[in-house]
Amino acid sequence: MSKRILITGASRGIGRAIAEQLADSDVTLLLHGRDTVALAATCQAVQSRCAGVVKLIHDLFAGQMPPGSSIVNILSIAAQTGFANWSAYCMSKFALEGFSQSVRDELREHRIRMINIYPAATNTEIWNDVEGDWSREKMISAEQVASAVAYALSRPENVAVENITLSNAAGNL
Ligand SMILES: NC(=O)c1ccc[n+]([C@@H]2O[C@H](COP(=O)([O-])OP(=O)(O)OC[C@H]3O[C@@H](n4cnc5c(N)ncnc54)[C@H](OP(=O)(O)O)[C@@H]3O)[C@@H](O)[C@H]2O)c1
Repeated sequence: MSKRILITGASRGIGRAIAEQLADSDVTLLLHGRDTVALAATCQAVQSRCAGVVKLIHDLFAGQMPPGSSIVNILSIAAQTGFANWSAYCMSKFALEGFSQSVRDELREHRIRMINIYPAATNTEIWNDVEGDWSREKMISAEQVASAVAYALSRPENVAVENITLSNAAGNL
């Protein structure tokens, strides 16, 4: 039976890069997004390399995940540090940090791993709508974030790589 991997926000950016990284012949990808055109493009990009691809628009829930499953949260360095003029974003990421730490502990008895990724500024479309002059050269790539996710997921089921922070070695934005 193929592995099933659910990726939310798979229509573009980091989610799409993770889908492309994890696509494999023994993997069925469950790809979640709202933009049906962009989501279809992701499906098109990965389906020849996968056992299956399923498009999803659903409420999400951990109750039916079997032992050995993993949940990956893409947080941000803004879940660890406050930045001027980013209060709402930092607040939501700090909240997700608290939420995920609590749910991680709740899911331990079910042997479900909670993996938190903390990327610095990453070169995706999210920056197109952020007012200001942002240097794309100072950003890390979505593919590097995806590689970190793939590494954490590839560890044996009894090993949880719980937190990975990714920075630009030359200094973040
Ligand atoms: N880029 C960065 O610098 C950076 C750094 C650290 C952390 N992150 C985090 O990484 C995650 C992905 O960011 P990105 O840079 O890949 O952004 P992106 O390129 O703008 O992609 C965002 C994705 O999220 C989905 N999405 C947005 N709002 C949604 C909603 N209300 N319901 C369901 N899906 C929704 C979008 O899909 P549809 O529009 O198709 O629904 C899209 O697939 C975010 O949580 C972001 O905070 C980003």
